[in-house]
Amino acid sequence: MLAMNYRGPYRVRAERKAPPQIKHPGDVILRVTRSCICGSDLHLYHGLVPDTRVGMTFGHEFIGEIVEVGSSVKKLKVGDNILVPFNIACGMCSFCKQDLYSNCHESNPEATASGGFFGYAHVAGGYDGGQAEYVRVPYADVSPTIIPPDIHPEDAVLLTDAYPTGYFAAEMGGIKPGDTVVVFGAGPVGMIAAKCAWLFGAGRVIVIDHVEYRLEFVKDFAQCEAYNFRSMRDPVQFLKQQTGWYGADVCIDAVGCDASGSALQTITGKKLMLQAGAATALHWAINSVKKGGIVSIVGVYGPTDNLVPIGNVVNKGITIRANQTPVKRLLPRLIQHIRDGNIEPKKIITHRVPLEEVSDAYHIFSAKLDNCIKTILIPPSAN
Ligand SMILES: NC(=O)c1ccc[n+]([C@@H]2O[C@H](COP(=O)([O-])OP(=O)(O)OC[C@H]3O[C@@H](n4cnc5c(N)ncnc54)[C@H](O)[C@@H]3O)[C@@H](O)[C@H]2O)c1
Ligand SMILES: [Zn+2]
Ligand SMILES: [Zn+2]
Repeated sequence: MLAMNYRGPYRVRAERKAPPQIKHPGDVILRVTRSCICGSDLHLYHGLVPDTRVGMTFGHEFIGEIVEVGSSVKKLKVGDNILVPFNIACGMCSFCKQDLYSNCHESNPEATASGGFFGYAHVAGGYDGGQAEYVRVPYADVSPTIIPPDIHPEDAVLLTDAYPTGYFAAEMGGIKPGDTVVVFGAGPVGMIAAKCAWLFGAGRVIVIDHVEYRLEFVKDFAQCEAYNFRSMRDPVQFLKQQTGWYGADVCIDAVGCDASGSALQTITGKKLMLQAGAATALHWAINSVKKGGIVSIVGVYGPTDNLVPIGNVVNKGITIRANQTPVKRLLPRLIQHIRDGNIEPKKIITHRVPLEEVSDAYHIFSAKLDNCIKTILIPPSAN
């Protein structure tokens, strides 16, 4: 089959590889019809994630048609069209039982923190992902969900990660009616977080980034304010000034370890690797939230050390909430919001690219070329 193949930092290509097989009675094999490239894939592509192995197929956002089912699968059958949350969850461990599906204790042999994710290096279990013609889906009865007939396939593929994660970022913010919410990052996740902040009653939503076309897009998509941090002397001072010098009620970090904007963070986090990525946006979030406010982190950071201003967290009495998104828990609510017309996630899709061109697609998304926001990959066997 054709699959995206990781060859090392900044090098991916579409290559032939053996198709996946059922390894466990709870597996299904999916013929992928659509997959996405995510900001999380960029951390892998940029070589920032430990134990990303050559030969790995990325892709944790995908939908498809079941072509084979393991002998113990009960809820799904050949021919079903399903969306597959990016978390691989067993459904039975004590964490899954608390709806912490992204922290499953069984699906990742290195499960001290996150559970298994599709297409995300061996620190997340080493599962091949869905930027391919076929993919093996373990624990198929737990998280994978039949796509309701009234849900468009492009909305369905965004229900596997980007839309739930934006929503989750807003939910973790504990937004109260009238709150001022600042979202760092105008990528797909930040845009959806900004849009969803209104669903929780925000009174004002401000997005910060430095990519002009994304700022322009989010103003319209999320009906919010959007500012370029390159045009400010100090983003924290700007946000304080915007909020009567108190700070925002809620700050959301939708950037993660690949952040720009601070030479110190970039050199120590991305060049010398003295810390697990650049924590620039997280710094700004902690320093521009008000005393007693909430910082919600969905931006991905590597394990172990980061230079974050923990003293300010303590002295300001900030609550920090963070996790990988437990997609399964949120799906019913998110599908209802689409049906109610509150959000149309597929509006953020700007590029629809044949899987054969995956190398160019990564380059365009990574370098923010061609007004790219969200890219869908279409395998040759999809139609
Ligand atoms: N927690 C989860 O479950 C989960 C799920 C999906 C994605 N993520 C993470 O969310 C983050 C965003 O994902 P995405 O797909 O939107 O990625 P993306 O790369 O498309 O967007 C990130 C945006 O942040 C901007 N940015 C860079 N430095 C900044 C700074 N200092 N301040 C403000 N903006 C800055 C970039 O210009 C870019 O537009 C990534 O870290 C990704 O790994 C987490
Ligand atoms: Zn993703
Ligand atoms: Zn589990």
